[in-house]
Amino acid sequence: MKISVESVKVVEVGPRDGLQNEKVTIPTQAKVDYITALGDAGLRVIEAGAFVSPKWVPQMADSADVYRDIPKDPGVEYPVLVPNMKGLERAIEVGVKSIAIFTAASESFNKRNINMSIDESFENFAQVVPRALGEGMRVRGYVSTAFGCPYEGEVAPERVLEVVARLLDVGCYEVSVGDTIGVGTPMQVQGVIGMLLQVIPPKRLAMHFHDTRGTALANTLAALEMGITTFDSSAGGLGGCPYAPGASGNMATEDLIYLLDGMGIESGVDLKRLVDASSIIAPYLDHPLPGRYLQACTRRAMPVATRSATVQ
Ligand code: HMG
Ligand code: MG
Repeated sequence: MKISVESVKVVEVGPRDGLQNEKVTIPTQAKVDYITALGDAGLRVIEAGAFVSPKWVPQMADSADVYRDIPKDPGVEYPVLVPNMKGLERAIEVGVKSIAIFTAASESFNKRNINMSIDESFENFAQVVPRALGEGMRVRGYVSTAFGCPYEGEVAPERVLEVVARLLDVGCYEVSVGDTIGVGTPMQVQGVIGMLLQVIPPKRLAMHFHDTRGTALANTLAALEMGITTFDSSAGGLGGCPYAPGASGNMATEDLIYLLDGMGIESGVDLKRLVDASSIIAPYLDHPLPGRYLQACTRRAMPVATRSATVQ
């Protein structure tokens, strides 16, 4: 294994991807406390919510209140998901500085998720992105189903490249390549990244792995080997898309940080404080957090942090 990456940017998606699929209603203040604790743990990009239709995703209905109430740390970016102009207007109203737009590499998933074809989503972005950039916002892009679609099965890497390139062309500073249903495997990941890197610099790419089949960390290693330095993950391993049947949690941020710490790769995240952040949201859920590192801590089978983090 040859990895020359020295530091990694972690995009924490727990408060959005993590909570959007939960059945129980989580109080707004609990979300605010969770986001605050994630910032205290050293995360510098924390996806704070989604300005989507509350009918489509009820868990995100209070995102404007959550955003307004976060005691903003000037060193932390708090992006929110925006699907259309209505979402952008809601975001502008509460002073959002960073948004994420989202589409997919497969038509059927995009239709189910945002009720638009891929081309229609780009017609929409042609309005949303210039307005957002005009407001001084940063705009990130997501491509879902990059490694497989719950409705269509296999997805061609050429299709992924095409959608990533279109998102960069409309003005995204970075595109997150999503394994929405957690079907990807390391060589497939390297194949897709290899194709993307022929035309796109690694700094403009992020990987967004769901751990449905337990391959997220292996895929992360595969991506690190290809020089990717930005990874999305969710504290405690929460997550899933309501419109991707069978999808489960994102790669757990604790598992990712444990891996990076063990390899001497800098992330700026304090594992012990991250565990504290997850323990803020855990009591509000109707199931245990799935992250492996966290479960090991709960069973007290190992110390709460890695060697480097425990030496204080
Ligand atoms: P639609 O029903 O086609 O929208 O939904 P519409 O334009 O026809 O409007 C219908 C109603 O929704 C209207 O209200 C609008 O005002 C309202 P009514 O007149 O009926 O009272 N509406 C809104 N309300 C609040 N905020 C808005 C908004 N837009 C319309 N922004 C729409 C289209 C895109 C809105 C809908 O499909 C939607 O919200 N989809 C979001 C689904 C979602 O959030 N999925 C999860 C996030 S993506 C994900 O998890 C994948 C990712 O993690 C990466 C990966 O893992 O691959 C990012
Ligand atoms: Mg996701």
